[in-house]
Amino acid sequence: MSNIVEILKSLSEAPGISGHEHEVRNVMKDILTPYVDTVTTDGLGSLIANIKKDDDLPNVMLSAHMDEVGLMVRYITTDGFIKFQTIGGWLDQAIVGQRWVISTSSGKVNGISGIKTPHVMSAEEKSRVFKKENLFLDVGALDKKDAMTRLGIRPGDPISPISKFERLNQGDFLLGKAWDDRAGLAVMSGVVEILSEVNLPCNIYAVATVQEEVGLRGAHTSSEIVAPDIGINLESGVASDYPGISEFEAQESLGKGPAIFLHDSSMLPNQNLRDLVEETASDLEMDLQYNVLSGYGQDGAEMQRSKGGTPSINITVPTRYLHSHNSIIHLDDVNKAIKLVSEVVRKLDSETVSKIRTFG
Ligand code: CO
Repeated sequence: MSNIVEILKSLSEAPGISGHEHEVRNVMKDILTPYVDTVTTDGLGSLIANIKKDDDLPNVMLSAHMDEVGLMVRYITTDGFIKFQTIGGWLDQAIVGQRWVISTSSGKVNGISGIKTPHVMSAEEKSRVFKKENLFLDVGALDKKDAMTRLGIRPGDPISPISKFERLNQGDFLLGKAWDDRAGLAVMSGVVEILSEVNLPCNIYAVATVQEEVGLRGAHTSSEIVAPDIGINLESGVASDYPGISEFEAQESLGKGPAIFLHDSSMLPNQNLRDLVEETASDLEMDLQYNVLSGYGQDGAEMQRSKGGTPSINITVPTRYLHSHNSIIHLDDVNKAIKLVSEVVRKLDSETVSKIRTFG
């Protein structure tokens, strides 16, 4: 088995906001290519890695998204500061006082989201949240011309958070950015490696999708190409095991195993597929967590709506502090998710898939 911590590190540290996933795609291509028969892309850039067994066997699609939330250069002020468009769901207060990297056509440019000095603020201003409309990036440019000619920054350039991966205090809690959804991609990598060595009862399409954070776009286009019979989405879940978040809002805890979503705003899982995942976890003597969320959307919804309706489920790695520079997952949950998903897929022969797809 490849070193999953190394895979997690390289995926987490790669910059790749929606529509600019090429560095993540290259990492995924290198990881998956040795284990699959073909690697192609759809017209938007989602990577489709296929283990082909037989045309008569069911097509099982695994998906996980490559893009992360970030910013995009909107315009450059005459003083050389960068005004930006947010890409994906950000809290305004998560944006201030952070390090960022702009990927320009001539290279990488580092910048920071400046925050006004408290020494000059009134008490009222100090207690306020800084709205994103008023925020900017400082890239150390003299003026607009310097930013554009010396640094090569152009409107539309993608801006990603900078955050170094680390095993938090040498333990199994893993700190990094973009676990949404690089954790899912790492699970997919582990699953494909395991499945490449077994006798499979189905064809596998491992799809690393683009543009999830702006509306599940890559999952839509790649599902049209794959035409899955079963869809398994691999995501970062929503942990609620830290101060200030309640069990009513989310129900996952780190280190207690993978979770399945029973409700989110984008999809409801197929009940038979849910039962199969539960049975498999039980056979493995693995704890399975559940999450019922009021919000959240994920790529499983696009698989579910493809090919006239595809039984789908979302399986997650519990994650703290999503959509920020510093998120935390637990290594045990990643390893257990790999085990669970590969065992589920090994059961997806024609008969089982046809039972899942039968409605009484
Ligand atoms: Co996600």
